[in-house]
Amino acid sequence: MQTKILMVCLGNICRSPLAEGILKSKVDTTKIHVESAGTGGWHVGELPDPRSIEVARKNGLDITDQRGRKFSAYDFETYDHIFVMDTSNYRDVIALAQSESEKRKVQLILDELFPGENVDVPDPYYGGDQGFDNVYQMLDEACEKIAARL
Ligand code: 4NP
Repeated sequence: MQTKILMVCLGNICRSPLAEGILKSKVDTTKIHVESAGTGGWHVGELPDPRSIEVARKNGLDITDQRGRKFSAYDFETYDHIFVMDTSNYRDVIALAQSESEKRKVQLILDELFPGENVDVPDPYYGGDQGFDNVYQMLDEACEKIAARL
């Protein structure tokens, strides 16, 4: 059976599409299924932000097959691990969990690098291109750890 992983941010156009693309590039996708979603619904059906598409492209990844979708409580049944980008996403996702076992599926992605320190992946949406490079590097390191464990 496939292990199913969901990457979650707010808009599902900047951070979690990068996390999805990066982790997919590091695992055997016949064994590990990776998707992403946003806690907000503003960008449902849209391509990732052009700046995320560009930073992915610069690093050899094509994420233009992705489209925005909204996180739903049903996702707790589908996915084994839910990685959230920041503490606000964490609160929004945990609020929809219906059991302790569902809550245990949710983890801040940068806990992989800074366990227990509650470090956020900063939202690059309102910043410049450099924010996207920074986010890419953080997610690349975190996904390397996740891939090594899967
Ligand atoms: P993301 O960034 O959560 O990394 O996809 C955002 C994208 C859009 C919005 C907020 C954050 N927005 O408010 O539309």
